[in-house]
Amino acid sequence: MGHDKLRKFAENETFACLLQPTAAQVLSKGYANLTDHPVKGHWIEQMFGGHEGDIILELGCGKGEYTLELARRNPDKNYIGVDIKGARLWRGAKTATQEGLRNVAFLRTRIEFITAFFAPGEVSQIWLTFSDPQLRASENKRLSSAMFLERYRSFLREDGVIHLKTDSRFLHEYTMAVARVNSLPILACTTDLYSDVLGQGTPPEGRNTRGSIAGGPSRREGGVSEANSRRGSTQPQDLPTEVREVKTFYETMFLEMGLPITYMEFKPFKEGPYVNPRDPEDFDSKHWRELEGTRRSFGHQN
Ligand SMILES: C[S@@+](CC[C@H](N)C(=O)[O-])C[C@H]1O[C@@H](n2cnc3c(N)ncnc32)[C@H](O)[C@@H]1O
Repeated sequence: MGHDKLRKFAENETFACLLQPTAAQVLSKGYANLTDHPVKGHWIEQMFGGHEGDIILELGCGKGEYTLELARRNPDKNYIGVDIKGARLWRGAKTATQEGLRNVAFLRTRIEFITAFFAPGEVSQIWLTFSDPQLRASENKRLSSAMFLERYRSFLREDGVIHLKTDSRFLHEYTMAVARVNSLPILACTTDLYSDVLGQGTPPEGRNTRGSIAGGPSRREGGVSEANSRRGSTQPQDLPTEVREVKTFYETMFLEMGLPITYMEFKPFKEGPYVNPRDPEDFDSKHWRELEGTRRSFGHQN
């Protein structure tokens, strides 16, 4: 391991905002029966100094720029960036420490173990930012698959929401299909977040995409209006401004390359088990994989 990484790992031990449980702690009873961490149900007291407020997660936060900026803008809420890479988390934890941001924490863990860290109803929102679309892997590895929604349900409030921002049309359409087959309300959706006439960006292509907003009642704020629901997209004024104003590291990179960024927000809560979309009836993986082209071959491996 390089000297710089070792230095960062050593400094990570000193950050009060960074929680780094060992895998052995979580896995002492095996993968099928994760051991709860003492912070579960106690984030406000143990990590946020008693600062009451909604808890919002960013899963796969990388260096944590998004978590940090949301926290600066919303001091009444508490933000937790989750990632497995210690050297990346170092950047976020260092900045939070230097700026004295008391509503920011970082958790170093595999997202697969997330249920060991949060109690029922403890989290109000989840951001999935530029997650690996897992084009060829089992869909159970996608962070918006039925298996992951099942995990999130164990700690998300009933009225909680998931935001997905991605450069991967494949992952966007896959997640739309997951929402559709589980009848999950989609509150906002666009296939081109930064198009000048937002909401009229790239029209959905391929199968099962037109009018694919599932059971999406319009919201007064940040919702999909009835007309847009039919078009399958959201108008800019309907989105909270921070969705466009705050950008992640990868988002900035992809925008510089001229790639469209997609965004959706949905309510994942439902009774009964989640199901994955059938391929190709509900989600034509081959079609969307081919459309994705070669540009997916970088950026998400590490
Ligand atoms: C493409 S990067 C995006 C980083 C950041 N969200 C951004 O947009 O700049 C994906 C991040 O997810 C993390 N990641 C991927 N799979 C993970 C997993 N199963 N558990 C924890 N972190 C994971 C990686 O370490 C990486 O930092």
